[in-house]
Amino acid sequence: MTPVTLVHVSDPHFGRDCDLAMVDAVERIVPTLDASAVVVSGDLTQRARHGEFQAARRFLEQLSKSAPVLTLPGNHDVQWFESPFWILGRKRLYVKYRRWFGEELTPTLVIPGAIIATMLTSYGVCFPSMTPNLNDMAVKGHLPPGEVERVARLFADAPADLARVVVVHHNVLRGNISRRMGLSRWRTAQERLLQLAPDLILYGHDHEEAAAQLGDRVAVSAAGTLTHRMRGGKPSVFNVVRIDDRTVTIQHWRWQGGAFAPSDRFVFARAARGPGVARGVTAVA
Ligand SMILES: [Fe+2]
Repeated sequence: MTPVTLVHVSDPHFGRDCDLAMVDAVERIVPTLDASAVVVSGDLTQRARHGEFQAARRFLEQLSKSAPVLTLPGNHDVQWFESPFWILGRKRLYVKYRRWFGEELTPTLVIPGAIIATMLTSYGVCFPSMTPNLNDMAVKGHLPPGEVERVARLFADAPADLARVVVVHHNVLRGNISRRMGLSRWRTAQERLLQLAPDLILYGHDHEEAAAQLGDRVAVSAAGTLTHRMRGGKPSVFNVVRIDDRTVTIQHWRWQGGAFAPSDRFVFARAARGPGVARGVTAVA
């Protein structure tokens, strides 16, 4: 396969908390990374305001001069207050996002070496995203089966030699510091993601970086935030992820002394694939 380099940024939160020094630094570094694609995994804005979306769009346009950019709405980008519990329908939730980023909420990017599919988990205040904790309203997401079926079809139709990459906004692993999951019914969501047998899952939302595995076989990249609101007051982190035939390497770039610098690096084996190896159905109970 063609090796792939993904720059994974998340949660810039244009608006009150965005740190423009970090934004500027990302804009300066990305052109030096020989990226195949840049993924910004949601929460572009703080309060889904037009001005915030405009600033986010300028940021993504800048990044797109280096490589194709893929993004999707996070919970902060959804106008949940326009239609709580979807009483006025779901379309109202995404009016501003669509105005500035186009109709497609779940774009797919195919590049040499990889197919990168986004999956929508941000649906505002609604019963499927609810948990017993009322503080979770408008914060948690959920992963509908229809999203999984849609991406399963995309992956089934893609050439076998492409790495399969999934992007969601909400964290699918428990945050080390927050101890919280991003999705309601998270065990089911994890099983559905494993059924897709991706090589890599990217997410943000929890404002803490991670390089880990889901189900002992799927590499997971979590990027922090381009604000000073990292969990536990830790320095912000974005990731550079390299996929080759055998491995997925996640390199953290950590904010130190007013600049992002390469930091911890994690290498994961890719799950065995090839003729006779069933993808995504054998390992899920
Ligand atoms: Fe979020």
